[in-house]
Amino acid sequence: MGLKQCHNFHDFRSLARKRLPGPIFDYIDGAADDEITHGRNSASFDDCDLVPNVLRGVETVDMSVTVMGQKLEMPIYCSPTALQRLFHHEGEHAVAAAANKFGTMFGVSSMGTVSLKELRAKHSTPQFYQFYFHKDRGLNKAMLETAKASGVDVMMLTVDTITAGNRERDLRTGFSMPLKLTLAGAYQFVIKPRWAINYLTHAKFSLPQIEDFVDMTGGAISVGQYLNEMLDPSMNWDDVAEMVKLWDGQFCLKGIMSVEDAKRAVDIGCTGIVISNHGGRQLDGSRSPFDQLAEIVNAVGDQIDIVMDSGIQRGSHVLKALSLGAKAVGGGRFYLYALAAAGQPGVERALDLMRIEIERDMRLMGVKSIPELSSNNLRFR
Ligand code: LAC
Repeated sequence: MGLKQCHNFHDFRSLARKRLPGPIFDYIDGAADDEITHGRNSASFDDCDLVPNVLRGVETVDMSVTVMGQKLEMPIYCSPTALQRLFHHEGEHAVAAAANKFGTMFGVSSMGTVSLKELRAKHSTPQFYQFYFHKDRGLNKAMLETAKASGVDVMMLTVDTITAGNRERDLRTGFSMPLKLTLAGAYQFVIKPRWAINYLTHAKFSLPQIEDFVDMTGGAISVGQYLNEMLDPSMNWDDVAEMVKLWDGQFCLKGIMSVEDAKRAVDIGCTGIVISNHGGRQLDGSRSPFDQLAEIVNAVGDQIDIVMDSGIQRGSHVLKALSLGAKAVGGGRFYLYALAAAGQPGVERALDLMRIEIERDMRLMGVKSIPELSSNNLRFR
């Protein structure tokens, strides 16, 4: 199977599985504990049906949205994800270029493998910066200053990762950064020589957002170890309120799940929230963002921009979320499998297929523009 045979999320996932060493595939594919929440994230969309209208003259369809001050040509953006150059040697360069081409937003991770500055300089598409709050307050301050100086459009603070989720696949394979593997894991690299050659012959793996502050010379460290040792579990609403003031621009919290927290985000001056359970990678047993969307929109939808991620695989998922009041949605694995499968052309194909699905489904729903969608278009079973 090649890229041309990839017609949906599952096809990209299969191709990524073929191309990647097992431990890397499992890092992307895996989630916390029994991975129940991960499965539920997508399944929650199936508990709800679209109710189309017909005969509405839908030859021209406009799927653009404006969220947190950013105009997007399509209502799905590329969520920030860590370690992209491990998945494909083009890493963030490929994802940013593809997002740029489709006019959508692109997130750079604190644990990204290309610098914020370089990506900002090369691509004009709206960019947000996924921020991890570290124990080292000097690092936090420096990261904020670099982001400001680089011209980041939206600051996105992750609030669901004050400690690492229990990802048992990674424990089994010994997945770490850079790579240090158990014997079983190392064998996987031998049987994926094409990936290994590309990895070894392109720019050396690095974490430019944090490398000046974190001593990585001591050898490999697992992602879980990094999150547990470096991030600050004492982070509280006062810390975030201070950050919001300092940033003085578009600021959203990623990982809000309750109405109470959504209200607090409004109170401290955030301009957006991302309803998210981190793709099921943190708290297993957590409710799905789609299931929480309506009550949060009803409570604060007129005071703050609400977006959601986790579990989005289809254009119809996007339309269901937007019908309930999300301003846009984010996808992570949605483009990561495609990146791993084929680099930039892979991400472009994933975005293009999604664009085509959204456009077709809008026509089939009798909707010419996103504001025409509402909860009238949905019924829960
Ligand atoms: C993860 C973190 C690093 O989900 O965002 O792996």
